[in-house]
Order: sequence, then structure tokens, then C-alpha cells
Amino acid sequence: KKLMDIQPSQLLKRKVDADDGPSTKKSRYSGDEAEEHALFRGDANAEARALAFRRGSATLKAHPKEIVCEEDLKNLPYIGLTNSAKAGHCKMVAMEILSEGFSDEVEDVLNGSFYKSMKLFTGIFGIGPQTARKWYHDLGMRTLEDVKGKNISLTYEQSLGMEHYDDLNTPIKLEEAECIIKMVEKACNEVCDELTMTLVGGFRRGKSQGHDLDLLISHPEDGKEKGKLVLIIEKLKEHFIYTGRKMDVSNNLNKGNFASSTMDNFEKCFSIFKFNKSWLNSNLEGKAEWKAVRLDLIVVPSHQFAYALLGWTGTKHFEREIRRYARTEMKIVLTSHGMHSLDTKQNFPAETEEEIFQKLQLEYRAPSERCC
Ligand code: GTP
Ligand code: MN
Ligand code: MN
Repeated sequence: KKLMDIQPSQLLKRKVDADDGPSTKKSRYSGDEAEEHALFRGDANAEARALAFRRGSATLKAHPKEIVCEEDLKNLPYIGLTNSAKAGHCKMVAMEILSEGFSDEVEDVLNGSFYKSMKLFTGIFGIGPQTARKWYHDLGMRTLEDVKGKNISLTYEQSLGMEHYDDLNTPIKLEEAECIIKMVEKACNEVCDELTMTLVGGFRRGKSQGHDLDLLISHPEDGKEKGKLVLIIEKLKEHFIYTGRKMDVSNNLNKGNFASSTMDNFEKCFSIFKFNKSWLNSNLEGKAEWKAVRLDLIVVPSHQFAYALLGWTGTKHFEREIRRYARTEMKIVLTSHGMHSLDTKQNFPAETEEEIFQKLQLEYRAPSERCC
């Protein structure tokens, strides 16, 4: 099913919404595949290779004009302008797509047994590339049937991931998200009427669907947000399948390095929520038909709110690049908690995202423009 009937220019056209905009529907590739494959392999230089593909793909997605010929690739950073083997590789793939409408190399990846199995396995909540790779290479596993059949010991999270595999791999729609937002908002209000709840993640960037729903919870007075998460969860307890653990707290305190990773030290909950289908479909009223949905709740003190908002809106690549830029160009360490000078350690408080961009001498980018 090669997409020969599609104009190559459509494949590389700028996306209004990089994640599920109009051109994605027409194109064969999302732009994530080559990056994903490198991370799945996880061999030497995998991260650098993945980053090079991500940058190339982000450049194409953000380009304001249609790319129709090789000439158009010439001045693009990380593709034609950057002189490296990795940029050359990106250019080669882009050129293949321009002339054929698809890339043999990407097709081989997509149709390969390794990529297919890794995609299946990492789709299980609680399974990362490392475990998936072990299953594939050491245990010879290929399918979800293999996971069920081979008598492998799974953690509680992973067994929930298996149990709710289909639900958790079905995108959450905006109207479903809105429904959950209202419920969480109500619970917040009941706990304390001054609590605020703010949508972050893909939905804040304007996506119409997502793999989860991300919400920041805060209180106008610093410190008053503390301990509220358990109370909110308690209010909603009948709707939760799983309320997670505060995963990266100890992790980061031990490593003391949350400045360099995307991990942070907020009180949070990576949960699985029970979405009752009757909330949107009155025909189902009274029926116990529901769907498992990933919900992330992050509690943020007021003085760090702008930084948390910026840090949790994404995309992941945008966060990585703005932090790299801050560090290398401005000698500033940017995290989801704040920003400080690399040399003097001076902190820069900020009330809004705009102030953070300003401090970094960057033009403000609205969430919908952070899709690269
Ligand atoms: P979909 O959920 O697929 O719609 O995309 P998304 O962009 O919302 O992705 P995700 O929910 O994974 O993450 C949202 C943002 O939060 C991204 O910018 C991530 O970098 C960031 N993020 C995710 N997990 C963590 C975490 O543990 N700590 C921190 N600080 N940031 C995180
Ligand atoms: Mn999300
Ligand atoms: Mn999330």
C-alpha cells in the first residue's frame, strides 16, 4: 500500500498541528519512526542518532513553506545546512520521500520484526525499551501472546498494562479529556476552593487527542498545595484503577541531577483513570461500560508555576532544545522548577511563560507552536 498517489510535497508540508494535523493523515510517516527505531535499538550512539532524526523531522515540520525539491533542503538546519553524516542521512531519507513518495529505508524499519515487536511491547504501561529489548533478543518473544504465554513475571503496573492494553493504546479524545477535567476540577474545589487546575501536555498545545491527560494543580499561596493530592485522589477514588507512585522523587534526590533530565521533583501521580462511557453517551446510562485512560496529576507550588507550565506543556523535543539553548547560549540552567545562572547560581523568578522566554532572549512561542 505505497502512497504513490500522494504528492511528495504533501508529505513534508508544514503541519498546523504537528501531532495530528491535516498532513499527518495523508502522509505515510509521522516523522517519529526513525528516531523511535534508534531508541529501540539502544546500541552505541543510539541517542545521538535518535536526536539527529528528531531534529531533522522537527525542522521539516516547522518549515513555513512546502518542500518540493532537493534545492529546498539545502538551507535547512540538521538536514542540508548541517555538515555531518547524520544530517546527510536525514537528507537522503527526505530526498527519497521527495522522489518516491516513501523511503525504502523507513519502510524496512516499519515492516521489520524488531520494530513491530518493540512497538507492541513498549505499548505496555510500565515497559520501557530496555525490558522490551530483553524480551525480543534474549527470550525470543515477538507478540503479546508471547508475553501472556511465557510465564514472565510482571510488576503490578505491567500487569495492569497488559490487562488494559487496548484501552491504553486507544488515543484519548478531546471530549473525553474535557469530561475528566471537569471531574478533577470539581474534586479540587471540594478539597479547597482556591486550588487551581491547569491543562498541560499535548492538549494544551491544541492536539485533538493524546496518549494521556496531563494536569497541573496549584494554590495561589505557596505551600498550601502540599498534601492536597492525596485528598483529591481520595475524592475520586472510585474512578481510579491505579494511582501510581511518586516515581521520580527518590530517583532524582539521589542522583541530584534533575536539571539535566526531564525528571523533576514535584508531588505527582501517574494514574489510570476509569472513564465511564456513559458520561459522553447517554444511551449507555446505567451500564458499566468504561475505558482505562492515563491521567497525570502534578502538584506545583505557586512560585514555580510558570516553569512547571513551560516544562509540562512539551513537546519533549521542545523542552530538550530550549534547555540546551539556555545552558549553552545563555549559561542558564532551566528546569520545570526554575531557572538559575550557571556561574553565579542566581535564581530568576518568573510569573509567566512570557517572562521566561524574555529572560532567555527568545521570541515567545505559543503552546501550539511548540510541536517540533
Ligand atoms: P501525548 O500525551 O501523547 O498527547 O503527548 P504529550 O506531549 O502530552 O506527552 P507527555 O504526556 O508524555 O508529556 C507532556 C510533557 O511533560 C512533555 O513535555 C514531557 O517532557 C513532560 N514530562 C513527561 N513526564 C515527565 C516527568 O516525569 N517529569 C517532567 N519534568 N516532565 C515530564
Ligand atoms: Mn500527555
Ligand atoms: Mn503525561
